[in-house]
Amino acid sequence: MFLHVILLDAILLLAIVGHSSAGTYELLVADEKIFSDCPNQAKGTLNQHGMFDLSDLNRSMNADGVNIAGSMTCAWNIQPEDRVEMSITLLYFDRGTWQSTVFSLVSKDFCKSMYDEKQYWYKFWTQHFTNSADVKDKCVLYPGTKLQLEPFMLSLRASTSGPFRNGRYKARIRFNAFDQSGASRLPNICFEIIGDIYKV
Ligand SMILES: *[C@@H]1O[C@H](CO)[C@@H](O)[C@H](O)[C@H]1NC(C)=O
Repeated sequence: MFLHVILLDAILLLAIVGHSSAGTYELLVADEKIFSDCPNQAKGTLNQHGMFDLSDLNRSMNADGVNIAGSMTCAWNIQPEDRVEMSITLLYFDRGTWQSTVFSLVSKDFCKSMYDEKQYWYKFWTQHFTNSADVKDKCVLYPGTKLQLEPFMLSLRASTSGPFRNGRYKARIRFNAFDQSGASRLPNICFEIIGDIYKV
């Protein structure tokens, strides 16, 4: 879902470079579970299950994509006053190895914009929360908060003004918490979304 943010960045970057082959691109996730572990996880870093209890999140893939229903429950054991930083980097699978790309994004204070309608993660993820009025203030800071999702089909599609190489990509998503003194609070979170990007 976060990949769209990266694609938005890509628009800007590619526009600067001067390419102009406008198009809509879609990321088709490779696995109906959507999330996978980051390789070589550092000590003190947990995967998606360290952030959310996903046992009530139904995900099923058909020819059109992944259908999602149910809920996710916050599980990240940090403190309510913490600042949450989110970063996303995009990697491209090229001749057997993952290569970094220029596309990346950092949100220094994710909780300020988790439900910001201008953000791509709103369009593809948080807008589908049916109880957002009740949980908005809690962000991802309170373990046990249930984020209820309407049934929807994951559609990771974005228009860009520049060319995008078709192929296999992964978005590496990290969440890091910092206490009020600015010190890092473990655990950190890292997980990935792997899929294929193609021009629609
Ligand atoms: C999720 O899947 C389970 C088992 O198939 C089903 O009982 C439940 O109703 C589903 N929940 C939603 C919200 O679709």
